[in-house]
Amino acid sequence: MTDGIKPFSFDTPGSMLVEWGGAKRMGELLSAWFPERNLLIVTDKFLHENGLLDPAVASLKAHGFTVTVFDDVVADPPEAVLMSCVERAKAAGADVVMGLGGGSSMDIAKLVAVMLVSEQPLSELYGIGKVEGKRTPLVQVPTTAGTGSEVTNITILTTGETTKMGIVSHQLYADRVLLDAELTVGLPPVQTAATGIDAMVHAIEAFTGQHKKNMMSDVFAKEALRLMTANLITACQDGTNRAAREAMLLGANLAGQAFSNSPVGAVHALAYPLGGHYHLPHGLTNALMLGPVLRYNMTAAASLYAELADVVVGPSEEGTQAKSANFVNFMQDLMDRSGAPLKLRDVNVPEADLPMLAKDAMLQTRLLVNNPVEVTEKDALALYREAY
Ligand SMILES: NC(=O)c1ccc[n+]([C@@H]2O[C@H](COP(=O)([O-])OP(=O)(O)OC[C@H]3O[C@@H](n4cnc5c(N)ncnc54)[C@H](O)[C@@H]3O)[C@@H](O)[C@H]2O)c1
Ligand SMILES: [Fe+2]
Repeated sequence: MTDGIKPFSFDTPGSMLVEWGGAKRMGELLSAWFPERNLLIVTDKFLHENGLLDPAVASLKAHGFTVTVFDDVVADPPEAVLMSCVERAKAAGADVVMGLGGGSSMDIAKLVAVMLVSEQPLSELYGIGKVEGKRTPLVQVPTTAGTGSEVTNITILTTGETTKMGIVSHQLYADRVLLDAELTVGLPPVQTAATGIDAMVHAIEAFTGQHKKNMMSDVFAKEALRLMTANLITACQDGTNRAAREAMLLGANLAGQAFSNSPVGAVHALAYPLGGHYHLPHGLTNALMLGPVLRYNMTAAASLYAELADVVVGPSEEGTQAKSANFVNFMQDLMDRSGAPLKLRDVNVPEADLPMLAKDAMLQTRLLVNNPVEVTEKDALALYREAY
């Protein structure tokens, strides 16, 4: 007799539409999805000013929607941005919310949908499962193939000079998700690389998670990694390549579903202090730490990395340790070719700060416990030195 399946749960948004060019018929889609007609779009200035929203907004107006655009979202959004978005949404009488942008815009949209109807103060929402009651209808439309925020129940806010805090609650799962890869065509090569590497890290870390890894998160993680490793370089080199953009967006989405159910580990734990102190983009910070952490985990996680080698390199007759090394080398080579900056020194992190970063990384206990190998402060410092 075998042991059977270890019990697990798997949560994700109820409905996803994958359609190239789907944003152009946003009005038609939203009128079928929701009875509400007063929409708030949460986005950032760059996307707004560059016309990325225009086809969607034109379609929405043609279908009778009142549309308010909040475009003050910034990367790693602080609490103040959220609060001014809530104020704007209330003043406009919004009754349905759309996040249209990268992870930052989608994160804010989730909480605005909650705070439009909830009396709970923001300070009471931090942590796991603290949100009570319902929210307004919520649709998410990613424009980066990265965070997978469109399918996660997490919002990350910047709460102080260098600190970020998370809100994790079931209500943050969207009602509807539109994956229109045409929206990602204009993402520049370096951002395509960095956000794509972030998404690949989600898949790898979900697959090697110590506690919540399960049969469904494994399926999503493997397919995510297969799609993205095969398409990252093409998407970086030829942003207009439809097949590559579609594979990256779907891959990032699958990876998001994987890590929303089996949380990330040491790459993210070591990446967060870099974002906090130097305001480096989230994807880039992951790209900087991935190589060192993969090598650090390579022996302990050998059987899992060997399984991933079968997915990204192809099956072979080699032993587990050799396959694990193949996987790590494959990922390092992919990163080298992607064009993302790969060393802390290249992004002006002062060498003297490394001990402080290692100390800070130890605060990410929520993530470090998921890593296949323990990471002490001394180990973290060695990893930052390797990344330097
Ligand atoms: N909720 C989650 O599960 C989760 C997970 C990881 C990270 N995050 C958060 O997500 C944020 C990072 O998200 P991100 O990496 O998607 O970046 P982002 O949303 O911060 O956007 C980065 C930049 O890319 C630009 N951009 C976005 N789409 C574009 C397009 N199609 N063409 C041209 N430019 C485009 C934006 O205008 C912006 O300047 C951080 O705030 C991070 O904390 C959330
Ligand atoms: Fe991430």
